[in-house]
Amino acid sequence: MPQGPYSDTVIDHFENPRNMGEIEEADGVAEVGNPTCGDVTKLYLKIEGDRIVDVKFKTFGCAAAIASSSMTTELIKGKTLDEAMKLTNETVTEHLGGLPPAKHHCSVMAEDALRAAIEDYRKKQGK
Ligand code: FES
Repeated sequence: MPQGPYSDTVIDHFENPRNMGEIEEADGVAEVGNPTCGDVTKLYLKIEGDRIVDVKFKTFGCAAAIASSSMTTELIKGKTLDEAMKLTNETVTEHLGGLPPAKHHCSVMAEDALRAAIEDYRKKQGK
């Protein structure tokens, strides 16, 4: 059992974030911040057809926020936009092996960034 508030998976994704960085000329981009803690996540999507072919993120935030963003990118890569829209922060948290209640909002920030990036893409497409 992990010591401290975070699961081994959270610590792994915090220490080795997947898909960290940015995509130049991304098809959908969103930046979402939490005014209470001041953490910010930026998500970049590369979309071909209706599918997310690449995704990168930058998070200036706590370990849970970085791990949630990292897990989100892993779960949506290769998915269609509709499938990605259905991803919830509960699913991300489950895949992370849970988060302490005080860190719930960190996974919500990742979900909000994902939805906003897809909406940004759809707006640019005029949909
Ligand atoms: Fe605010 Fe984690 S403490 S995102």
